[in-house]
Order: sequence, then structure tokens, then C-alpha cells
Amino acid sequence: MKFFIDTANIDEIKEANALGVLAGVTTNPSLVAKEGVSFHERLKEITEEVDGSVSAEVISLDTEGMLKEAKELAAIAPNITVKVPMTLEGLKAVKALSDLNIKTNVTLIFSANQALLAARAGASYVSPFLGRLDDIGHNGMELVAQIAEIFDRHAIDTEIIAASVRHPVHITDAALNGAHIATVPFKLFDQLVKHPLTDQGIEKFLNDWNNQK
Ligand code: E4P
Repeated sequence: MKFFIDTANIDEIKEANALGVLAGVTTNPSLVAKEGVSFHERLKEITEEVDGSVSAEVISLDTEGMLKEAKELAAIAPNITVKVPMTLEGLKAVKALSDLNIKTNVTLIFSANQALLAARAGASYVSPFLGRLDDIGHNGMELVAQIAEIFDRHAIDTEIIAASVRHPVHITDAALNGAHIATVPFKLFDQLVKHPLTDQGIEKFLNDWNNQK
């Protein structure tokens, strides 16, 4: 499983990229709005920093509007992936973009059927939102497992991005259940690295080193 970062904050992206584990970036309208910057300028900056896929979401709800936005976004850099919401209009846009060889990430996936439809329309990625399902008492990880099994059984090469991940257990379970990618909020990288026994171990090694006779 690869790591993407889920943010539009350039400092967070640079810091995560320096860790050497970053394979891509996802943004969404809420994350971009928090930054208070020009969307296209920020995307340009991100694509210059990160070589992998950079997901940028369309705002239009109709296919024609989505396609217009998608073409403008795709023109920013070759590694832009157009993020399209899971709707009937969205599926038509995904099909048209796939015919134009523009990569797509179908977002707001909450069922296996939605993921299968998105894949068949030509999506490069599907993004099941684990945390938001957990929030309403469902099991987000079961959805990842179902999608992974369906894609495997039917030899579908659309990649699964575990999205809306909230804590380290989500990461381990997403990897075990067949997600190809987890898109991770910045603070989670620190949580993934930290272990109290690692910290204690470093402290003991240093103490022993400093107290040697
Ligand atoms: C993924 O592409 C989304 O931007 C994101 O993971 C949503 O996460 P949230 O439910 O924490 O807002």
C-alpha cells in the first residue's frame, strides 16, 4: 500500500515529501477553502513539489461543467488527477475523461456498487470514505475489503484509495484489506512513526552511551 497525503497545505506536503514515502496528494474543496489561496496556483505549486498523482476536485454537478473544469485542471500539469463525485453525471464525465486519457479519482464512495460502476466507467482511482462511514455506525473497512475482492475477482485495475482515514489502525487495516493507497492527514504521519518503546529505547541507548566507563 502506498501513501498519499490528504491536504492542500504546501508546508505539510513539503514536510511529508521529505520523509521519502509520499506517492501522491489528494485535495478536496473543503481542504482548499481552508488555505484561502488560488486553487490553480496552489495546484501548480503542489505538482512541482510532488511527482505522483495530485487529485483536484471539480465543483460542477453537470457533466458538461465537470469536463470544462477537468480540462482546465489537467492542463496545469501532467500529474493532475481529476476528482469527480460519485453521481450519474460524474460517471459520464469519468467515461469522457478516460477516453481523453485524463486520470480520474471518483470520490465520496460509500458502497461497493458505486466503486464497481466508477471502475467500469474508466476511473483510475476510487476513494471509499472510511471515517465518514464509521462516524454513522457502519464499518468503513468492510467496504474496502469488498471493493478489493470485487476488483481482484474481476481483474479490474482501478486503484483503491482508502480515504477519510482517521487513525493508525485504519492504515494497518486498509493495507491488510487490499487498499492500494491510503490518503493520510498530515498529523497521522507523526502518529504512525511514534511508538513509546522506540522513544524509550533511544533514551536508554543514549543514557548507556553517555554513562560508559
Ligand atoms: C479524500 O480524498 C478526502 O479528501 C478525505 O479523505 C476526506 O476525509 P474527511 O472525511 O476526514 O473529511
